[in-house]
Amino acid sequence: MAQTHFGFQHVDEGDKARHVRGVFDSVASRYDVMNDLMSAGLHRLWKRYTITVANVKPGDQVLDIAGGTGDLAMAFAREVGPTGRVFHTDINEAMLREGRTRLLDAGVVLPTLVCDAEHLPFADNSFDRVSVAFGLRNMTHKELALAEMHRTLKPGGKLLVLEFSRVAKPLEKAYDWYSFQVLPKLGKWVAGDEASYRYLAESIRMHPDQETLRQMMKSVGFGHVDVHNLTGGVVALHVGIKC
Ligand SMILES: C[S@@+](CC[C@H](N)C(=O)[O-])C[C@H]1O[C@@H](n2cnc3c(N)ncnc32)[C@H](O)[C@@H]1O
Repeated sequence: MAQTHFGFQHVDEGDKARHVRGVFDSVASRYDVMNDLMSAGLHRLWKRYTITVANVKPGDQVLDIAGGTGDLAMAFAREVGPTGRVFHTDINEAMLREGRTRLLDAGVVLPTLVCDAEHLPFADNSFDRVSVAFGLRNMTHKELALAEMHRTLKPGGKLLVLEFSRVAKPLEKAYDWYSFQVLPKLGKWVAGDEASYRYLAESIRMHPDQETLRQMMKSVGFGHVDVHNLTGGVVALHVGIKC
């Protein structure tokens, strides 16, 4: 069977999704607190920026892929209003359950669905916006997932891919020290799981850099792709338009 990477390990392609599921089953209940802690709250600003760039209108149809605990879905739900619809989806039930509880506690009711991004159960040309935040990195066949996102967008629709990316050279040393020395220890103390946060650091290094991802999006049909570097390239927002 073909091999792929799971962090720095090589695994059979057919096994990667199971390994990724193990990570998110393990961290789901501590996911939000870890996000705030390890990014010093910056993930909220990155997501806020994504919402602004998405420029969702009342009445829009939005698909949030790998939506996890629901940060983007909740923000989009407020923008589309009662005439629009946001689908909160993820492949992992534990993450979705955390998200659905948060959404309901906030008084936001929307469809929550288990969905594999590589095989989306939606018709062609269904959505005005498709988003995926910190999810693409974990997918086995990224081109296939991007092609599905393209297929389900309406012509003129926008894909927003928020993901860790390649940091600017001057930040590299400090970022590597933080990623490999601090992050796994934080994971151990707060989430009781060192290995999953080592996987996070490793998977970021294995993810395509800004330009490679831009080309991947173009190769599946996005006519125009903009790249927004955030926090010195720690994170990048790729915005693709289906022309
Ligand atoms: C780091 S979490 C991101 C959650 C949320 N979007 C956020 O930004 O906080 C990554 C998510 O990707 C999901 N995921 C991984 N592979 C997936 C796939 N093939 N299809 C859909 N979701 C997937 C995981 O289950 C996990 O919930």
